[in-house]
Amino acid sequence: MRKRILFKIVAPFVVALGVASCEGDESNPCGGPTPEERARNQEVFDALAPSCQGCHVTGARGYFASIEAFESLVVYNAAVVVPGKPDTSELIRLLEGKGTRAFKQMPIAGPPFAEIAASGATKMTMAQIRAWVTNLEARTADPLPSIEARRITRLSADDVGRALYQQLGLSDDDFYVAASSFDIPHKTAQSDDGYPFTSPDSIPGPYENLPVERYAALGGGSAPNQLKADGTVSPSFLGVITQVSQRWCALALDKAGNPALLPAGASVQTGSADAASVKAVLRAWYLHFHAVDATDADVDRVFSTVFVPLEMEKDARNAYIGTCSYFIRHPDWIFY
Ligand code: HEC
Repeated sequence: MRKRILFKIVAPFVVALGVASCEGDESNPCGGPTPEERARNQEVFDALAPSCQGCHVTGARGYFASIEAFESLVVYNAAVVVPGKPDTSELIRLLEGKGTRAFKQMPIAGPPFAEIAASGATKMTMAQIRAWVTNLEARTADPLPSIEARRITRLSADDVGRALYQQLGLSDDDFYVAASSFDIPHKTAQSDDGYPFTSPDSIPGPYENLPVERYAALGGGSAPNQLKADGTVSPSFLGVITQVSQRWCALALDKAGNPALLPAGASVQTGSADAASVKAVLRAWYLHFHAVDATDADVDRVFSTVFVPLEMEKDARNAYIGTCSYFIRHPDWIFY
């Protein structure tokens, strides 16, 4: 019972050190520090920080950015601290002005830490810090990545734009004409019928604001507009991807001589009366949009549950547009 409670308290530290896959294994040393160990590490952190923080809070040597950084980069890094062996620990050598690598001492300039400590200006004496290393429990970071880490991510607003232009056979020319404002080249969408979207930072810059708002709704960021990119699947992302995919699929299918979606000779008039032709298109779209070699069952399912109902609602063209949009709104398209 006691062990379980302790384990629960320890869990956040385990994650902080990126050693989640060691969880539950009592004998394994890569379990993260216990609360008592954390408290002792914190004491050393607090004693060293005033002398070190000036140079070590950011970047690859951000040892003093947080207690977690200090523990994973210094305390439990065998290249810097060897548990039980202060004389073999580079940290102790550096503090005492006996560094064996690129630097002889830390801080780099002025008296080394041990001298500052000898003058009584630090929270711990050098002897106390040596004793901390002598009594330190060995722990190693798990070399495996944390199971908590995010493994899939969605296409960014820019990715969506690039992928759709390429996969649908569209380009800026389908939405904008060249314009000029105060002699600065712009692109103007004039009507918003095609639901264009664009980064405000594109060159030439967009004249209207609606394409820019759509881009922001898709999570696109912009430095000049002080807008941070949003990589979540937000309701606004889903709303815009639905509208845009339907409208752009229609544009692509209606665009004369566009081979992106339909093979030469095929027509949006060909409906389920010619099931084999429609299924051949759907099979090609699986590969085109999802890079998936679809089974007959996959193709039959999209045919009967997506294409045919949309055709019955209106006509075959309507069914092609809706099915094309279905492939784009699908998780296999949005995530990678
Ligand atoms: C004036 C700036 C400065 C201060 C203050 C400073 N350091 Fe450093 N430290 C550095 C630089 C620069 C390096 C080398 C960085 C590199 O190699 O990229 C370094 C490297 C280190 C290393 C790595 C040594 C190795 O061989 O891998 C450790 C450990 C370290 N510092 C600890 C400390 C500690 C502990 C303190 C406080 C007692 C401290 N530093 C104070 C600038 C500083």
